[in-house]
Order: sequence, then structure tokens, then C-alpha cells
Amino acid sequence: MPSINSNIGNVGRGFAAFLSPPPEGVVRFSVGQPNFRTPEAVVDSAKNALDAGEHGYTRSQGTEEVCNSVANYLTKYGIKADPNDVLISPGCKQSLLYAMMTCLNPGDEVILFAPAWPSYDGMLKLIGAVPIHVPVKRENYHPDMDATRAAITSKTKAIIINSPNNPTGAVYLSSEVEELTAIAAENDLWIFDDMIYSDLVYSDHLYTSPATFEDGKERTLTIGGWSKIWAMTGWRMGWITGPSQVMEGVKTCQASSASHVPTFLMGSGAVALGLEKEPQEFLEAFTERRRVFHSLIEEIPGINAPKPEGAFYILADITGTGMDDIEFATRALEEAQVQVVPGSLMPGGEGLVRLSYGTSLDQIREGCKRLKNWLQG
Ligand SMILES: Cc1ncc(COP(=O)(O)O)c(C=O)c1O
Repeated sequence: MPSINSNIGNVGRGFAAFLSPPPEGVVRFSVGQPNFRTPEAVVDSAKNALDAGEHGYTRSQGTEEVCNSVANYLTKYGIKADPNDVLISPGCKQSLLYAMMTCLNPGDEVILFAPAWPSYDGMLKLIGAVPIHVPVKRENYHPDMDATRAAITSKTKAIIINSPNNPTGAVYLSSEVEELTAIAAENDLWIFDDMIYSDLVYSDHLYTSPATFEDGKERTLTIGGWSKIWAMTGWRMGWITGPSQVMEGVKTCQASSASHVPTFLMGSGAVALGLEKEPQEFLEAFTERRRVFHSLIEEIPGINAPKPEGAFYILADITGTGMDDIEFATRALEEAQVQVVPGSLMPGGEGLVRLSYGTSLDQIREGCKRLKNWLQG
């Protein structure tokens, strides 16, 4: 057999090992997806588009309608995007990969705030770039500016910001985003701003885009998607926008690979971004789940977690149980029938487990009861 890419063996598969569907009856705090149905108007739009025969090739970057709708949506955060510089890709993940393919060369270093969502690490390695994991502050999971500055070398080319954050639930303060933007400007770095959880905030400080700061405009790629806020994980739709020159490169990446997302889904993307009721209902449900989940977690011996400020994850310190996170996750599944993701699948996540409240309140109550009984027993 011929040899394969020697780099591929270094690339991890994120949480995959701990996400496999467990036996029936297991409470799953593992999966990072909302349990809501995609809003009906969005589904209807896709059905109608198919009935209307919208199934041929179309504009590679996305139809004008959906690109306009993204540019319009981003204005709520003060992000000024020219619709010509918006591209719709098969998921936020793909947009991130295009950003990296466009801006980075093999050997370039990229700062991640650790523990970071593991796909960043995998994608960077796929293209031969080097992830540099800079630990966040353990008490609140916010970035440590001194550590960030210290991690920058002559090879550093970009910083990835993800706020609201998976897996930590942190929402960075506007002053922190401003400082990160200043650090990027001082060192002439790209900022890849993964804003996929932007509307899911429970704290009094909202999502801030680095592109809204003077220094950030020309170096920020704003990357998001429909998966989380509109409960559209399986639709595989994301966006990316940034300075025109970079977007030309991003367009090349898509034209040379996926071509575009399915034609009959593009109208649905625009419909989703125009909705108010459903995203608000989802946010209210998450707000309640987060309140209940965090208060129940606090009652469990040996587990501690800062209150999440956004997204739909609690990142809990389980060192008080005397177990490491892999043992905790393995035994929680076997002995308590609760599936969680161990933090050490991510550099800097040792001693932590990620609990997702993409699931129902009933499941949250049941899972916490099981964990409590297990640890007390
Ligand atoms: C931080 C972050 N970015 C991107 C994604 C993936 O988004 P998409 O489904 O649009 O590819 C996820 C999914 O878990 C995520 O947590």
C-alpha cells in the first residue's frame, strides 16, 4: 500500500472518543448541540426551495440574499461587513479551516486559549501550523494577558478568540477583547474570531467583536454559523467575513473544494437570521437550564464550577473527587450512567470535565441526581 500523509497521525479527533452514543438510559451531558427542533419557517423554506427546483449549482460564495442577511445580522454587533466579502461555507468549522488555509503557512504558530475547543488544534495541525496553548485563568477561564504576551514568538501569526467559549462558558469582557486586539496589532497577527455562540450570553457583558476596534478591522476574520443559536447543527452552514483581500483567498479555498453549500439551504439561512421569536425562546430555555444545572452541580461533593457566562457548557473542576478527569468520565458512564467529556482531551483541561446543557431540564435534574448519588455512595 502507498504511504499516507505523515502528518495525519498527529491530528486528534477532538471529543470523538467520549461522544459515541451510549447505551439507552444514559444521561448525555456530552453533546454540544441544542436539543431543540430547527424553527419551522427555516425547514419550510428548504422544502419549498426543493419543490421549486433550487437544486443546481449556484454562486460559490453563497447567494446574494444569504450573504446580505449575514452582513445585516452582524450589524447588531457593530460589525461592518460588505456582503461581497461574506462567504457561506459548510459549517463554522469549514470557515475556520478556510481562514487558516488563507492566512497561515506551515510552521506558523497560532495562540489558543487553553482549554480550547479541540478542533482548532486538529485543523491547525492538518495544515502544518502549530497550535500554542496558553492557559486561561483557572478561577474564571478568562484570558491571561501576561501569559498571552509571553507566548508570542517571531513565528506567531494569529490568535483564535472564541467568546462565548466552548468549553469554558466564559464571555470575555470588552476590555479584554480590546487588549487582545491591541496585542494582535502590536505583533501584526490575524485574529480568527469564532463567534458561533454570540447570542447565547447570560452575563451582563455581551459578546464583543475585535473587528469593532480600530486596530481590529483589518486583521479580524469574523466566523460564525447557524448550528447553535438556531438549532441547525446538521444543516452544515457557517459564514466568514473579513477584509476583501483575505476574502478573495477564502473564496479560492471554497471554489477549489466544496463549491458551495446546498443551493436549497441558502434561503433557509436568510430566513433563520430574520427570526426573533425562536432564538429568544431558545435563549430563555438555556438561561433556565444554566441556573438549575449550576445550582445542582454546586450541591455535588468534590465538584466546583464557575457560573458559565455564555454558550451552553459548564466546565467543572472535579479534582475534589480524588479522581482524574479520564477516570471520572469513564466511571461516571459506567457507574452513574452519565456521559461527560473529560477535559484532558484538550491541553490545559486536566482535572476538568465539560457538561453540556444542550439537553432538557429533566435530563439535567436526573443526571445531577445520579452524579450526586454516585459520588456520595
Ligand atoms: C467553538 C465552536 N466553533 C465551531 C463549532 C462548529 O460549528 P459548525 O457546526 O457550524 O461547524 C463548534 C461546535 O461545537 C464550537 O463549539
